[in-house]
Amino acid sequence: MSETKKSGGLAGVVAGQTAISTVGKEGVGLTYRGYSIDELAVEASFEEVAYLLIYGRLPERQELAGYRDRLRSMRGLSAALKSVLELLPAETNPMDVLRTGCSTLGCLEPEGKLRDAFQAADRLLASLPSMLLYWWHFSRDGQRLETQTDDASIAAQFLHLLKGKPADEMHVRALDASLILYAEHEFNASTFSARITASTLSDFHSAITSGIGTLRGPLHGGANEEAMALIERFKTPEEAEAGLMAMLARKELIMGFGHRVYKISDPRSGVIKNWARKLAVASGDARIYPISERIEAVMWREKMMFPNLDFYSAAAYHFCGIPTPLFTPLFVIVRTSGWAAHIMEQRENNRLIRPTADYFGPEPRPFVPIDKR
Ligand code: ACO
Repeated sequence: MSETKKSGGLAGVVAGQTAISTVGKEGVGLTYRGYSIDELAVEASFEEVAYLLIYGRLPERQELAGYRDRLRSMRGLSAALKSVLELLPAETNPMDVLRTGCSTLGCLEPEGKLRDAFQAADRLLASLPSMLLYWWHFSRDGQRLETQTDDASIAAQFLHLLKGKPADEMHVRALDASLILYAEHEFNASTFSARITASTLSDFHSAITSGIGTLRGPLHGGANEEAMALIERFKTPEEAEAGLMAMLARKELIMGFGHRVYKISDPRSGVIKNWARKLAVASGDARIYPISERIEAVMWREKMMFPNLDFYSAAAYHFCGIPTPLFTPLFVIVRTSGWAAHIMEQRENNRLIRPTADYFGPEPRPFVPIDKR
């Protein structure tokens, strides 16, 4: 077997260096710039984590307040951006809306003389929720949302814009924890894609747009939506067990399970599972959470597979009242912080990312002109 076949999908291949995060490193699990995700998800806020990732160190109290103010001031959308969003039909995949919104922002407010990469990153983090929810409401009921809200955090802003009223505090805290868990994950597919684009010395918005396109697929970011669809298919844990056994017999993929790097568990899953449980109790749920737990148990018993971050995020988002088609877009909004950090890191010590391929096509042969074939 050739080396390439052994490492299909670049599994196990070290494709570069990073000082941003460790994934699955023995004894440390997931860390962002050396800080454990377990501590960050409980003790920090998403804005603090975004600052850590993008600016390279934890902010002081004053710096964090300034960063929050800066993000808050950048939530508004220009008339030109709104008019592009208004053209996108209600049936558009919301991931395509964000991809288009990011690309449009790159035309209207390009990185360059007026804006450096840090400003572009801040602006995108602050305005992606605005773009998504402006389009969401306009395409459904023609409502032109005021996106420049006063909410203290991105989690609160997102829920406020979604529901049209200030959000429930528990939902804000759960969403904030989930944003921390989703913020960064080393050389995952979308981050690698963003780094490849950055390595050609392309602009910031093009690199983020590459990341969004890559995250869209169900083997990556799209798995949280697929996990919700799976859970909602069943009415009881018993029905879920029978359904799952049938799916496994047909060798179907169960979304929200498995991971390329983690082999024993996903260190993010326990944190979001706790939130899903708390939210289930608070909302009086007697179906979604028990079904989720039964699916987890069956996957462990039958395949020794564990839930990844996407699986219990589905239930947690559901209990926060977030519609399923917005699950993966939320992932985009938050992962923009990780992508931004990687784009900047790639630029600091850049070399074009251009691997080679193992050729298995025909041997060299003469070309026969079309009228002689
Ligand atoms: N359900 C059922 N079987 C699975 C699953 C699953 N979720 N994941 C892997 N397997 C099986 C495969 O079919 C394969 O079986 P085989 O050896 O009999 O062919 C074996 O386990 C190894 O799987 P690979 O596909 O080689 O694992 P890989 O490392 O390539 O894929 C991936 C990892 C893409 C995450 C995979 O586990 C998967 O498709 N999971 C479902 C999608 C998902 O949840 N994605 C989210 C990833 S995390 C994130 O983005 C936050």
